[in-house]
Amino acid sequence: HARITASVYTSHVPAIGVAMDQGRTQDPYWQPLFAGYEASRRWMAEHRPDAIVLVYNDHANAFSLDMIPTFALGTAERYDPADEGWGPRAVPPVLGHGELAAHLAQSVIQQDFDLTLVNRMTVDHGLTVPLSLMFGEQPAGAPHWPVPVIPLAVNVVQYPVPSGRRCLQLGQAIRRAVESFDAPLKVQVWGTGGMSHQLQGPRAGLINHAWDQAWMDRLIADPRGLSEMPHLEYVREAGSEGIELVMWLIARGAMSDLADPADVDVPLRAPRVAHRFYHVPASNTAVGHLILENP
Ligand code: DHB
Ligand code: FE
Repeated sequence: HARITASVYTSHVPAIGVAMDQGRTQDPYWQPLFAGYEASRRWMAEHRPDAIVLVYNDHANAFSLDMIPTFALGTAERYDPADEGWGPRAVPPVLGHGELAAHLAQSVIQQDFDLTLVNRMTVDHGLTVPLSLMFGEQPAGAPHWPVPVIPLAVNVVQYPVPSGRRCLQLGQAIRRAVESFDAPLKVQVWGTGGMSHQLQGPRAGLINHAWDQAWMDRLIADPRGLSEMPHLEYVREAGSEGIELVMWLIARGAMSDLADPADVDVPLRAPRVAHRFYHVPASNTAVGHLILENP
C-alpha cells in the first residue's frame, strides 16, 4: 500500500520564481532566503517520493470569479505553467499521476468531501514556486519536474473560504485515501502559501513575525487546536493574504499522528521536524518553511 512519508510546508511568492528564472538568487536581497532552502533540496534528494499531493491556491489564473471551486483536485496527466501576465515561467510542465489522482478522487469523495475534478488547467506561482524552492533550477528542456504532482487547488481568494477545521479533516481523508492505494508508493503532501502578508489596502506590507512563529509551533504540536482558529484571526493578525495558511492544515491533517486510531496498527507518534526556516521579507511576504517526517 501507499504511504505518506512526509509533509512539506512553504510560502509562495511570484518574485521568488522570477529571482530563480533570472539567475539572481545570490543577490544580497535573495541570498538569505535561498540559503534556507539548501538543506531542503538535500533532504529532497534523499527522500524523493513517488508522488506529491501539492495543496496550493490559484490566483485567478486557471480559475476566476466565473467559477470558484472550494477544493479542486487535478486528475490530468500534465499541467503547463500559467501565463500570469509576463508569459509562462520557463520551467518544465508538471507531470500528473492519473492513477493515484483517480483513486484519491474516488476515496475522498466517498468519504463525503465533494471535490471538484479538473482534467485541464494551468498552474500558477502558487504551485510552481514551491516546486522551484524544493527542487531548484531545472535543466533547460527538462521534460517535466522530477516527481509527478497531483495538484489540489483550494479557494482562499474569494470568500467564503473553507475553515481550518475542514482543511484538517480533508487532510485526514487524503491520508486514508493514500493508504488504501494498492501500490507501494511513497507520497508527500505539501501545504503551501502564507505566512503573514497583505498585498493591498491601508495595511499593505503587514508582517507579523511573532504570530507566524507561534502558528508554526502550534501546527507542529497542536494542529487540532489550531484548526479551530477563525478566519477573522488570520486576517487580523496575518493580513488578508495570511488566510492562505489554512492550506497548511490539509498537509498536517495527512500526518499519521492525526489518523483515526482504528485505521492504524502502529502507535501514533508526533512527526519529526526535519527542517524549519523563516525569513522576512520576500517581496511583501513572510516566508515560512517546515519539513515534517512521519515516524
Ligand atoms: C506576493 C505574495 C503572494 O502570496 C502572492 O500570491 C502574490 C504576491 C508578494 O509578496 O509579492
Ligand atoms: Fe498568494
